[in-house]
Amino acid sequence: MPTCAPPLKANAADEIINNLRQLKNVWHGFPVDQLTHGLQTATLAMRAGESPEIIVASLCHDMAKTVSALNHEEMAAEMLKPYLSSDTYNMLKYHGIFQGRFFWDEIDRDPNYYLKFRGERWYDLAMKFTEVYDKPAFKKDANFEPLETFIPIIRRVVGV
Ligand SMILES: [Fe+2]
Ligand SMILES: [Fe+2]
Repeated sequence: MPTCAPPLKANAADEIINNLRQLKNVWHGFPVDQLTHGLQTATLAMRAGESPEIIVASLCHDMAKTVSALNHEEMAAEMLKPYLSSDTYNMLKYHGIFQGRFFWDEIDRDPNYYLKFRGERWYDLAMKFTEVYDKPAFKKDANFEPLETFIPIIRRVVGV
């Protein structure tokens, strides 16, 4: 269950939606912009039957790249913390480390670093999120839902 039911800011959902729209201008060298990447990630989660909370987390997992790619995982997790379960919060916070298992060997970092979290309650969730929803969500020709599909889900999870 979320740690805080009511929104801490009256228009928090609007702020999140505005943040997501800004991702249209963020590419970071990927084949699609970061809004498209988030929409593809959330579409995969939704079509797999995930909960509204996981769908919103999937949509927003890279939202802080508007400010910084380096620590975007922690920033997104902290921004959404009041509206998420602790498992989903940790999934967001550490998703970069779990993504690292796919490519860190190419940049001289330890791709097995994620294994230090083995045994955590959210470990399987982070494994699934990064492999099944996040990793494949960079396709130029993907079929995915527009942002409008997710707005009611954001408002439901955030509370307004
Ligand atoms: Fe990320
Ligand atoms: Fe991502």
